[in-house]
Amino acid sequence: MLSIQEVVKVHGGKLRALDGVSLDLGPGVVGLVGHNGAGKSTLMQLLATLSRPTSGRILLDGQCIVAKPEAMRRRLGYLPQDFGVPAHLTALEFLQYFAALKGVRDPARIQRLLELVNLHEQAHRMAAGFSGGMRQRLGIAQALLNNPDVLIVDEPTAGLDPEERLRFRKLLSEIGFSKLVIVSTHIVSDIENMAQRLAILRQGKLVAFDTPEQLLQGARGRIWTALLEPAHYEELRDQVHVLHAQRQGERIQVRMAHGQQPCHDAQLGEPSLEEALMAQRYALHAVAA
Ligand SMILES: Nc1ncnc2c1ncn2[C@@H]1O[C@H](COP(=O)(O)OP(=O)(O)OP(=O)(O)O)[C@@H](O)[C@H]1O
Ligand SMILES: [Mg+2]
Repeated sequence: MLSIQEVVKVHGGKLRALDGVSLDLGPGVVGLVGHNGAGKSTLMQLLATLSRPTSGRILLDGQCIVAKPEAMRRRLGYLPQDFGVPAHLTALEFLQYFAALKGVRDPARIQRLLELVNLHEQAHRMAAGFSGGMRQRLGIAQALLNNPDVLIVDEPTAGLDPEERLRFRKLLSEIGFSKLVIVSTHIVSDIENMAQRLAILRQGKLVAFDTPEQLLQGARGRIWTALLEPAHYEELRDQVHVLHAQRQGERIQVRMAHGQQPCHDAQLGEPSLEEALMAQRYALHAVAA
């Protein structure tokens, strides 16, 4: 339902924050993964119609959201990365304000959303005095006010405690049963059990759009573990990509990404999704070099 076609976004005349990104997205949770500066927020701002692509097209059910942003805005929920709350509103007033802006006239919905994000007992507190995680939850409630078909949440789990993180993952998963949910993060473990697909951005380019299983499969046979003497570790560390190294007694337990067995006592390990992404990055790096 959302088709991103050859999208380029140039910032400040020369920085290509997005460099020809094409993606077709339907219902489900999509994880947008990439390092700082990869272009995640830039893409999300384009989808949220807050900025316009330098070139390329974005279609929602065949309609261009650049030429006609209203249809997208009606169906969109967006939680920006730098979500701020005004100083003089309570949580309830804040949601009432956004409900009015979005034309949502059902007061019971605000109450339900406050409960959903576990803020109902704080409804009458000033939102500006909330902790980072509480503000984030208020932002999520705001994004859900109009029961959006497309929910875009930029780094939503930053600042959430582990319990809220779990609640939040469940909430997004459930929304993804019928709606399109796009979640950006660089914390892979936050989305690996939630996203059906991961779109991986690197320096403005889409380098993969795969299921977590496909990404894991791509890394199998390239993740190695070994227990090494410190001197051997020093020798090896420049030749392989060390993923983790941890002292164990006198020796060092190492996990590495490498195309073939890096030393005779190394054994193949089952990759985690995070390792699979790192291994892929190194493989791409090796190809580019
Ligand atoms: N308004 C802007 N003006 C100029 N450059 C910008 C602007 N917004 C983003 N950029 C640049 O575009 C690139 C992509 O930034 P973007 O914020 O999309 O990355 P990101 O993947 O969201 O990173 P992070 O993980 O840090 O949030 C970066 O190099 C950034 O400095
Ligand atoms: Mg960002």
